[in-house]
Amino acid sequence: MHLSRRKLIQGSLALGALGTAAWLKPADQGKNHSIYFQALSAALTHAEIARPTLIIDKTRLLHNIHTLKTHIGEYYGYRIVVKSLPSLPLLDLIARETGSRRFMLFDERFILKLLAHRADSDILLGKPLPVMAANKVLTQTPEPSGSDIRWLVDSLERLAEYRKLAVQRNQHLRLNLEIDVGLHRGGFQSESTLMAALNMIREEPLLHFDGLMGYEPHIVKIPGTPSTHLDTVLNQYQGFLAHAKAQLGEDFPSQPILNTAGSPSYQLHTHRARQAQSSTPCNELSAGSCLVKPMDFDLPSLSDHLPACFIAAPVLKSLPDTRIPGVPGLGELMAWWNPNLKKSVFSYGGNWKAQPVSPEGLTYNPLYGRSSNQEMLNASASIHLNMNDWIFLRPTQSEAVFLQFGNIAVYEQNQLVDSWPVLA
Ligand SMILES: Cc1ncc(COP(=O)(O)O)c(C=O)c1O
Repeated sequence: MHLSRRKLIQGSLALGALGTAAWLKPADQGKNHSIYFQALSAALTHAEIARPTLIIDKTRLLHNIHTLKTHIGEYYGYRIVVKSLPSLPLLDLIARETGSRRFMLFDERFILKLLAHRADSDILLGKPLPVMAANKVLTQTPEPSGSDIRWLVDSLERLAEYRKLAVQRNQHLRLNLEIDVGLHRGGFQSESTLMAALNMIREEPLLHFDGLMGYEPHIVKIPGTPSTHLDTVLNQYQGFLAHAKAQLGEDFPSQPILNTAGSPSYQLHTHRARQAQSSTPCNELSAGSCLVKPMDFDLPSLSDHLPACFIAAPVLKSLPDTRIPGVPGLGELMAWWNPNLKKSVFSYGGNWKAQPVSPEGLTYNPLYGRSSNQEMLNASASIHLNMNDWIFLRPTQSEAVFLQFGNIAVYEQNQLVDSWPVLA
């Protein structure tokens, strides 16, 4: 037999390609429920739940609260971000455990519900509400609560609207000014416009300057070192604050609210404070999501927080193969290449902002499409799921997802111990 040099080269190239293909071929990622998810499944079934359910693991939630408290210590006030934790019993527990009655709100209906539930809430808006929404809240809120709200104002135009509202209602309003410290989501960008705003506030006896709010989640997302970005943010913050103090002189409030942070960055602030590198212009930190840690918050800056919220969905159908409508054989071909696409499971509900986490290796089918009714997920042959079993997903965020399931099921020590209504 004679092998030409050309054939030898072709042969080795083909072998190389096969080797590379074998290397690229996905491995079987399938693993059945861990003991944790077996216990959670048993608790759901024991409670006779048979629909998609949002679960909070109370032990993990308490761990996260304790972690947050330990970091914040006496360095800052803590403000609870309501949109990320939209349930009154959940907020009550966090308020009790942290000793905070400061809340950050983003929605007029939530403000009304919170005030009806906890009249002593100290409310700071996290976004500037349209003046009509502010008027609605004031109309439906008995004095003095309405005047106590710290309304957020981001521009001279909005300030003019709030001034008109105060005059029309003959009601005192506390105004906190949103400053742009690098996120570029609006807010006062220059010291000169901030000064103009402060002048407008000073000239109207019904308006009261409350402090500043500068949100900076970008510092953990943009290239570079987060702590260096934080220094830049705090320098800008300090600049705005110094101008406000100089401008207002004796009229500067004795207890201003100087708010910053969110879950991704709060530990950078507390770390800096502990190191006593330099003083900070801010006196309170807001955070919410880190207490339940949805997937978008799997960040190095939150490595000591635990995932505490899950979606549980019943398995409606568990099929031994995966078939794609209209293309016979394609499902088999895909499963031949990727063993994790071998079986198909249809869940009760779906299409949430969430990723499957248990059994491990469960994935969305790349071709079949998403469904809010019965969603196809794929599993390898190593995964054993039957009709009426449970699959678990982690929400990528809490604020929208928590509102999609009705009451939250509270899980503690292998049992469902409570059912918390959400702020619908
Ligand atoms: C103004 C403001 N502060 C703080 C936060 C932080 O919320 P969380 O801790 O849930 O990320 C947000 C979130 O959007 C925000 O808009």
